[in-house]
Amino acid sequence: MSINNCQIINLSVVGKEIGNLTVIEGKRDVPFDIKRIYYICDIPEGVERGSHAHKSLQQLIIAVSGSFDIVLDDGKDKKIFHMNRSHIGLYVCPMIWRTLNNFSSGAVCLVLASELYDENDYIRNYTDFSNALEK
Ligand code: TYD
Repeated sequence: MSINNCQIINLSVVGKEIGNLTVIEGKRDVPFDIKRIYYICDIPEGVERGSHAHKSLQQLIIAVSGSFDIVLDDGKDKKIFHMNRSHIGLYVCPMIWRTLNNFSSGAVCLVLASELYDENDYIRNYTDFSNALEK
């Protein structure tokens, strides 16, 4: 998998005059069925999150409030995405090392995931990640 398989997804927004309603439908707006939703908020200044890869999980990551950076790394190339719009998501495919940092005050990070939580799907050590890519 390459970071070129990860992409920005522009989500549809309805009714702008009375506030933005953003819609995300599994298999329509994202290339997977949505099995789990979680969000991260009250993130202390300077904190870095992520720093792991997933063996098979697919995710869409959205800054529903505030902003943060997502650094993607496929073992060869790295790319930084600055997330600061509630209607723009970043699709992250399996086997990509991701780090989230530079959280603004009040940032809320919403994540839609293709599978239920499974710690066995995580690769939390970068050397293990590099080794897995070579297999
Ligand atoms: P983790 O995915 O490492 O968070 P981040 O990538 O944002 O730094 O998860 C942090 C902790 O929360 C870890 O102990 C696992 C737990 N967790 C769950 O129990 N269920 C979940 O759906 C998620 C995403 C994490």
